[in-house]
Amino acid sequence: MKLNDKMLKALNEQINFEWYSAYIYQSMGAYFKGMNLNGFSNWMDVQAKEEMTHGFKIYNYVFDRGNQVELLAIDKPQASWKTIADVFSVALEHERKVSSRFFDILELCRELKDYSTENFVQWYINEQVEEESTVQEILERIEFAGDSKEFILMLDNELGQRVFTGGAFAASEM
Ligand code: FEO
Repeated sequence: MKLNDKMLKALNEQINFEWYSAYIYQSMGAYFKGMNLNGFSNWMDVQAKEEMTHGFKIYNYVFDRGNQVELLAIDKPQASWKTIADVFSVALEHERKVSSRFFDILELCRELKDYSTENFVQWYINEQVEEESTVQEILERIEFAGDSKEFILMLDNELGQRVFTGGAFAASEM
């Protein structure tokens, strides 16, 4: 059954927001790359790829429901930050915004009695718990490091180990 017009609009906007998220993380990656913090930059590259898969999962769902996707303009992302901690606190705020958007979509599902989309959106509601907690943990570790360059370089090394495993399309995520 085709999506209700309001739901189609919300999902098209969410595809846009996920890809905007990818753009924000890629901008953060570029910022770190310019500072030669290649581990932080790698972490952001992987995050940007994950966000692309989040958008694609909705893109496929819209077509599966017999509707047409409409791609919207993507805003220019922020390009510089005051501190490393500032980057992650902006990321955390952003992830909270993503979570709240999914709560709104969930409410719309219930209002429209669209149980299929409610079931679909549940994956994102669960994923957001992890998204927020991962960013929060990194932020707390950066704050803990304070002025210690040694600790930041250790963290950079650790974040450099992150590997893209398929995001929303990874076997374990489906
Ligand atoms: Fe797709 Fe980080 O939310």
